[in-house]
Amino acid sequence: MAERIEVLLSEEEVDKRIQEIGDQISKDYAGKQVHLVCVLKGGSFFMCELAKRITVPVSLDFMSVSSYGSGTQSSGIVKIVKDLDEPLTGKNVLVVEDIVDSGRTLSYLLEMMKERGAADVKLCTLLDKPERRVVDVRVDYTGFNIPDEFVVGYGLDYDQKYRNLPYIGVVKFD
Ligand code: IMP
Ligand code: MG
Repeated sequence: MAERIEVLLSEEEVDKRIQEIGDQISKDYAGKQVHLVCVLKGGSFFMCELAKRITVPVSLDFMSVSSYGSGTQSSGIVKIVKDLDEPLTGKNVLVVEDIVDSGRTLSYLLEMMKERGAADVKLCTLLDKPERRVVDVRVDYTGFNIPDEFVVGYGLDYDQKYRNLPYIGVVKFD
């Protein structure tokens, strides 16, 4: 089956929105340090772009979880594949994600981070598919709400492909 990528959000639109979120975060965390936690691999492109636009002191850490196989459906099982390097105790944690879909991954992770003693745990996602929510998750910063379609680019993959696209596209099968 041939795949084709249709542009949903252009590089300019995404970059402009990331700047706006960066400005908002810089205001909200004024006088504080923010500890960005990236969920690999999808969140990495967004996290780097966002971090460059935050003007308060920033520290970074990374974790990797698996909740998906190679298809496009959530399994509901969250496994920590790579844990954080640093303790979260007393930190203002801001989890940076590529997309919130069913919410299963995030609700699990946010709970875990609170249990690890973070002073504060907030969530920032580039994309949100509200229609798909199964588990309620509070999102503090959202780039774009998008319709229920499988998207790629800006870190998001389809079978490990297309993460490097500088825009968000929808995978079409012709
Ligand atoms: P959730 O636990 O169902 O919210 O799944 C979140 C994760 O599923 C995201 O971090 C992505 O890795 C993956 N995911 C969900 N929707 C898409 C999509 O449209 N394209 C690519 N990956 C997706
Ligand atoms: Mg992800």
